[in-house]
Amino acid sequence: MAIYENEVTHEYRGLRRVLTYGTFDLLHFGHIRLLQRAAELGDYLVVALSTDEFNASKGKTSFYDYETRKEMLEAIRYVDLVIPERNWEQKIDDIRDYHIDTVVMGGDWAGSDRFEYLRDYCNLVFLDRTPGISTTQVKGNLNVG
Ligand code: CTP
Repeated sequence: MAIYENEVTHEYRGLRRVLTYGTFDLLHFGHIRLLQRAAELGDYLVVALSTDEFNASKGKTSFYDYETRKEMLEAIRYVDLVIPERNWEQKIDDIRDYHIDTVVMGGDWAGSDRFEYLRDYCNLVFLDRTPGISTTQVKGNLNVG
């Protein structure tokens, strides 16, 4: 099958496109497994990575800055494209601009008003979180170690 890239929209015709959102700070195996399973739901995985400014608006500060987190995600074989997540309201635009078929999130977001309305625009899938690991936990462990 020939693949045609539209430079403006990053559209790859004929491919099932998947989108997920997150901070992905202190990248860990829970993140990797989420990305692996998200990628399996389609042919092309877009990660919308929360910017430092967006995190600040939520009162959060990541250990690694946006550019570093982006560089690490781009090195993962399951990830095809990293875009900035700048606010809560951009999701419908993202789905349209990147021709997304499925939005995927970890199960901690299941039932959340932040995502449920997206069912009117695309498939919405929640994957079980990997137990026993989180960025918060890694930070805590490093403080102890
Ligand atoms: N995730 C997962 N399993 C984990 C940790 C995260 O499947 N053990 C998923 C989340 O559900 C989300 C994505 O990975 O869809 C990015 O999660 P993020 O919030 O960046 O990472 P956390 O480790 O959950 O960070 P924090 O401790 O700051 O909440």
